[in-house]
Amino acid sequence: MNLDKQQIIQLLQDKEQQDALFKKADSVRHQYVGDEVHLRGLIEFSNICRNNCLYCGIRRGNSKVVRYHMTENELIDTARKAANIGFKTIVMQSGEDMYYTQDKMCRIIEAIKKFDVAITLSIGERTYDEYKAFREAGADRYLMRIETTDKDLYHKLDPEMSWQHRYDCLMMIKQLGYELGSGIMVGLPEQTVESIADDLLFLQEIGIDMAGIGPFIPHPQTPLANEAGGTLDLALRTMAVMRLMMPDINIPATTAMESLHPKGRIMALQAGANVVMPNVTEGEYRKLYELYPGKICVNDTPVHCRSCIGMKIEAIGRTIGKGYGAHKKSTNN
Ligand code: 5AD
Ligand code: FES
Repeated sequence: MNLDKQQIIQLLQDKEQQDALFKKADSVRHQYVGDEVHLRGLIEFSNICRNNCLYCGIRRGNSKVVRYHMTENELIDTARKAANIGFKTIVMQSGEDMYYTQDKMCRIIEAIKKFDVAITLSIGERTYDEYKAFREAGADRYLMRIETTDKDLYHKLDPEMSWQHRYDCLMMIKQLGYELGSGIMVGLPEQTVESIADDLLFLQEIGIDMAGIGPFIPHPQTPLANEAGGTLDLALRTMAVMRLMMPDINIPATTAMESLHPKGRIMALQAGANVVMPNVTEGEYRKLYELYPGKICVNDTPVHCRSCIGMKIEAIGRTIGKGYGAHKKSTNN
């Protein structure tokens, strides 16, 4: 559905009509991507980051974080176990940790590809040559949120980073033939609904294959500790409008949504989402990868989460996707 900026703003603001919006998004989801929910096993393999984004709990400047990175073998083992419990996509996410050189990442990707899974990388900004090498090693998808398209806000949230550079990275990734995932946070300080409308138009314009919307949740050990943060309702409305605008893309029910409400992910799955990314990180690492407070499932195991979310999905009449769950482009949108 083509929506102009005014219409998007209207839908984002209209709290009275939000149930109708969610219903509509749910029916568009059913029509375009069906009832399968695709599960991705998320491995948080390093909380070491060279960046210092004001909103993020693992920012370089947070000296209270106990830092870790998995060894090459630990990471490969974690992926093997996730594949064994049935995940057909492995998402490898980390801070921007340069311990993982191009060669190391390529070796890891090649090893994990042997488990018959699709691989998504979510490791931030790298060079064109690195993105190319990772793709050639077998990475299928890349996930990197633009966070906000308001450039001034972006630069305020991280004075050291460049919005243009992040955009350039997304374009390189797309050009290299990855499936491209991006997304935003809602409820950032000073962010307006006009700006969120621009974000949605941007995601539509660049032709993303997947996009995640998460509420911003202030982390106590960051400079934004005292900010208000985003609400689940606004995040869900944003996600639902995105489903109307981009009917065939993959949309995750995000972990941050569930961190604000015990049924957050199920609510999202009934308002446009068709993907869930359960955490398959093991042991202490789960707690240490704390982008925001109140993260769910920190004391659970991968097997527990897989069966927990599986039951919740089936309880609402949906099925678990059996394939890799790639973006299937529709011809009539
Ligand atoms: N609240 C919510 N989401 C956050 N992220 C980072 N910090 C926070 C926070 N405080 C999100 C960013 C990033 C993704 C991995 O996590 O959007 O891209
Ligand atoms: Fe982790 Fe339910 S998904 S306990």
